[in-house]
Amino acid sequence: MTKLPSTVLPTTAAPDEEPFERSLRPQTLDEFIGQDRLKKNLRVFIEAARQRKEPLDHCLFYSPPGLGKTTLAGIIAHEMQVGLRITSGPVLERKGDLAAILTSLSPHDVFFIDEIHRLNHVVEETLYSVMEDFKLDIIIGEGPSAKTINLPIQPFTLVGATTRAGLLTSPLRDRFGITAHLEFYSEAELVHILQRSSRILKIGVEEGGFHEIGRRSRGTPRIANRLLRRLRDFADVSEDGRLTAAVAQNGLSALDVDDRGLDTMDRRLLSALIEKFKGGPVGVETLAVALSEDVDTLTDVYEPFLIQCGFLARTPRGRVATEHAYRHLNIPPPAQESLF
Ligand SMILES: Nc1ncnc2c1ncn2[C@@H]1O[C@H](COP(=O)(O)OP(=O)(O)OP(=O)(O)O)[C@@H](O)[C@H]1O
Ligand SMILES: [Mg+2]
Repeated sequence: MTKLPSTVLPTTAAPDEEPFERSLRPQTLDEFIGQDRLKKNLRVFIEAARQRKEPLDHCLFYSPPGLGKTTLAGIIAHEMQVGLRITSGPVLERKGDLAAILTSLSPHDVFFIDEIHRLNHVVEETLYSVMEDFKLDIIIGEGPSAKTINLPIQPFTLVGATTRAGLLTSPLRDRFGITAHLEFYSEAELVHILQRSSRILKIGVEEGGFHEIGRRSRGTPRIANRLLRRLRDFADVSEDGRLTAAVAQNGLSALDVDDRGLDTMDRRLLSALIEKFKGGPVGVETLAVALSEDVDTLTDVYEPFLIQCGFLARTPRGRVATEHAYRHLNIPPPAQESLF
């Protein structure tokens, strides 16, 4: 039996979802839909680096989950025609872990560090000189006879991904030549992504079905693809097996995804804010406790989309539900505070 997560649509990828995601992951800049300005710039930078026979500058991508950071790392390696090494901040525990990867890189390879804000101090500081002049300082031996040797590393491109650039120390951030924030996708872009995915997965989807899913995917390709996969089941058991607008509508309400694409957790967050804290302002820590969620998940995963939709505001005194949120949940907004 498939285990349904507590919220039907977590933004982060489930471990068993990796093969599915890989099958849909674009390999080239042409296949990568949306983020037009970033794509245009990357094209120039990649072309220039190739002409100069240099590695591409180090790149830092930040965005909420599921918007294409890992995908872009793969695309860069593909377009530069070099190898790709993937690791993540918490996995690089010791300097030796980093050294092992760095010394095995081929010239111009892409070295991708996911969750780069979670690197520990020592590893991060080691990275500084490596990023700058491709030299790794290692200490050999112990005590008075210990020697530092300066190991040359093949020039490479570091691609870092994080859900929040604000969590990076500035010395690290400053060492990236290319820094980009990935934006939420428009409905039209998501429809485009869904059309491509449905071709790969061989799912018959009607125009109205695409729009229904695109509109309700939280601006996030990962969610759009995941909904497509789930809704295929609803289509398979429908009369003619096609994913029509009506099949999508029924399926999405069965999955508890509402008209604006908010899922159970989004609505729990807004209703807690309104019902328990009179609409705010309330500190994010207090809100997290009320929802039994951790602060990082609220800030990185749920809030960005709610803010983008205008349901939630971050103020210096805490989180506030907007009038829009009251209306969406069918709760009468409080009367404007009287001056008397
Ligand atoms: N621009 C795009 N065009 C087409 N498909 C995309 C695009 N961006 C992302 N996708 C799809 O969405 C899925 C999730 O993207 P990806 O894994 O790159 O997100 P991420 O930003 O790395 O997320 P996380 O923060 O959780 O690591 C991919 O498998 C890919 O199929
Ligand atoms: Mg990723």
